[in-house]
Amino acid sequence: MSIRIIKWSEDLSVGIRIFDRDHFNLVEDINEIAHAMEGGAPPATIAELMTRLCDETDAHFSREAAFLRQAGFPDVERHVEEHRRLLEEIRTATAGIAAGKGPEDEDLYHFLRHWLIDHVIGFDKDYVLWAKQAPS
Ligand SMILES: [Fe+2]
Ligand SMILES: [Fe+2]
Repeated sequence: MSIRIIKWSEDLSVGIRIFDRDHFNLVEDINEIAHAMEGGAPPATIAELMTRLCDETDAHFSREAAFLRQAGFPDVERHVEEHRRLLEEIRTATAGIAAGKGPEDEDLYHFLRHWLIDHVIGFDKDYVLWAKQAPS
């Protein structure tokens, strides 16, 4: 498979350092999965790496929700509900891989990439503008 490693760029920044660092770590997790696939790693190894991605995503979502609640972000419940949906999506995909029912490597990689960039980080644009405008 030919992989296009995700490169961190300013486009992905949400302007809050701790969350940029979290997102960067998730990018690195997915790049590591891509490398493992390219190296021909078995599904059990991919499932293990994906489990770590799930756990780190879960921890990140909790940090983000706590921050948004504390900061008084008005749309927090909608954001948290989307986190729940996204986590379920990645957990379901991971369970599929662990059970040997996963998609082809290339399809899985595209799914992961889309899931992280367009959804997990993309949806955070939801609070970026608000955070910039909110009085500190
Ligand atoms: Fe986030
Ligand atoms: Fe989020």
